[in-house]
Amino acid sequence: MDAPLDPSERPAASRWLPAGCFAGKTAVVTGGGTGLGLELSRGLAALGARVAVASRSTEHHAALLAEAAQRSWSVSSHALDVREPAQVEALADELRAELGHVDVLVNNAAGNFVCPAERLSVNAWRSVLGIVLDGTFYCSKSFGRRMIADGGGSILNVVATYAWTGMPGVVHSASAKAGVLAMTKTLAAEWARHGIRVNAIAPGPFESEGAGANLWPDEASRARIERGIPLQRFGTAEEMAAHCLYLLSPASDYVTGECLVVDGGGSLAQPFWDAGTRFSRKRAAREDGES
Ligand code: HXC
Repeated sequence: MDAPLDPSERPAASRWLPAGCFAGKTAVVTGGGTGLGLELSRGLAALGARVAVASRSTEHHAALLAEAAQRSWSVSSHALDVREPAQVEALADELRAELGHVDVLVNNAAGNFVCPAERLSVNAWRSVLGIVLDGTFYCSKSFGRRMIADGGGSILNVVATYAWTGMPGVVHSASAKAGVLAMTKTLAAEWARHGIRVNAIAPGPFESEGAGANLWPDEASRARIERGIPLQRFGTAEEMAAHCLYLLSPASDYVTGECLVVDGGGSLAQPFWDAGTRFSRKRAAREDGES
């Protein structure tokens, strides 16, 4: 399908890139039916890609499939638990047979909840590490091996800034995301010679049902998080997806092994003091008089 030339007719995330810039490309998005995955899938499809969305529950794909039918986008739905390497291999085989070379892989599937480390069960630890760290590796290996054989591609991983800052209550997710960040840089260096770029994005808090219900379930926790963000608001899934599209597009062809932080400044240092009140009034008056 020809992508609409008028950017205002496209989903918000895709408006910053030229129409059709993913034409002829095939993209796989894990967890592609909800939140960031959904907006990214919509953006890729609107810019001309054939998009395969893969997650445990294909019910999550219904809205995207309905929109795709209406807009003549090419979107297919696949059941996949990224913790199962045999399922990942089977999907990679199936997509290669049906769609040919897979150019783009987005490792977006994630699991997370807040739990004190001393109370986290072994099964809970394994669930999150299994989805985030193991799943990202299984998908990268299966699709990456085929990208090597087929002449290259682009992989994008979704991490979080607490991969390097740490964050109380999410030792499972922070440990897994730190591993994914190391994986991003390692595979970028290892696979560059095969024409494969590997990058990551670290979104700050953004409006999303999955994360919202588990991480900021009430107004008080939401407001507390918002106060710590210099730009003073949550982001949107569309804003996050726009940066993902940039990292997957030819606009970033010379970028690999990079992690783009999109968090409104939320991971910057919190102030020890209020610079405005600490600045001497006398001194301010003197300087204002001089200018
Ligand atoms: C404590 C919990 C728990 C909770 C689950 N468990 N939820 N423990 N607190 N809130 C425990 C269960 O008791 C169980 O351990 C183990 O975890 C596995 O749970 P299951 O539900 O049986 O497993 P499964 O069906 O595989 O589900 C995995 C899941 C899932 C991770 C727990 O619920 C999930 O994916 N939820 C949220 C998805 C999400 O939030 N996505 C957005 C991520 S955003 P026991 O010992 O009882 O068997 C993100 C970035 C944030 O990560 C960045 C912010 C800036």
